[in-house]
Amino acid sequence: MNLAVQLAPTHPRGLWLKNPVMNASGTFGYGTEYSSLLDIQRLGAIVCKATTLEPREGNPQPRLRETPCGLLNSIGLQNIGVEALIEQKAPLWASWKVPVLVNVAGETVEDYARLASRLDGVPGVSGLEVNISCPNVEAGGITFGTDPRMAAAVTKAVLSSTSLPVVVKLTPNVTDIVEIALAVSEAGAHALCLVNTLRGMSIDITSRKPFLGNVWGGLSGPAIRPVALYMVYQVARAVKIPIVGCGGIGTAEDALEFTMAGASAVQVGTVQFVNTRGLVDVLEGIGRFMQEKGVEDISGLVGAAHR
Ligand SMILES: Cc1cc2nc3c(=O)[nH]c(=O)nc-3n(C[C@H](O)[C@H](O)[C@H](O)COP(=O)(O)O)c2cc1C
Repeated sequence: MNLAVQLAPTHPRGLWLKNPVMNASGTFGYGTEYSSLLDIQRLGAIVCKATTLEPREGNPQPRLRETPCGLLNSIGLQNIGVEALIEQKAPLWASWKVPVLVNVAGETVEDYARLASRLDGVPGVSGLEVNISCPNVEAGGITFGTDPRMAAAVTKAVLSSTSLPVVVKLTPNVTDIVEIALAVSEAGAHALCLVNTLRGMSIDITSRKPFLGNVWGGLSGPAIRPVALYMVYQVARAVKIPIVGCGGIGTAEDALEFTMAGASAVQVGTVQFVNTRGLVDVLEGIGRFMQEKGVEDISGLVGAAHR
């Protein structure tokens, strides 16, 4: 059985993953945090939490709220900053078999370009995942990922600042995700990741105030899975570059749905907080399914629902 996936076929070096299963950014720290719970080297790739130019403390507490089949979070990009990541984390990643993608986030196009250039050629960094769900301070706080021109501008700026494979991660908080996906793909992204969290809130009826310190947060977990799946399905009809499916995936069956909708790889996020072996369960379950159904190569399942 062949589970290997080429995630960046349009990149000169490409980005081969030995299987399509990776974690979702922000739910797996820097990879090291989970190494006592599962064999992280078995994964197709690891994506670290969002990284900014400067370290960030994140949003005020409380930052997490459970919802039916989901989770609201307003972490606010808490992270150690790119310099500490290069000094403390990348050397360790360089000794790993599993490729690590760095999730990058900025407030201006220039921030993204500087991050991309700083991470270019750093041993241990195999690619970038560009989080365009962040507010653009130059454009009055509109998130980059909700405007096709801004999404394309960030993509181009990153691509011209690095020789690494670039995956652009889209926000679902838009009217037409296909329009954004096309803009990013035409700008030259090597792959897309769909989707980030959906905006939502919760109110504490005792204090009569918003529950989260930041008022609103991002909804994730199985509650958003059908929304994410449909977005992957729609975008897969429109673009030729690989898609990484993300949103509520926790079992092999979920991952296979995304694969059949057109995802070449999948990410497991929130479900890991309930099942710390979620990533391994997904990986082993995909293998079992392929064996049972006599599927030789995972590529035979990608986009099957379109045929
Ligand atoms: C606690 C938490 C932190 C997150 N941090 C990031 C982040 O740093 N960068 C990013 O692109 N997405 C971040 N996300 C979004 C996830 O990577 C993922 O896109 C989203 O949660 C949907 O997948 P899931 O339902 O499997 O969690 C975060 C999600 C959660 C729950």
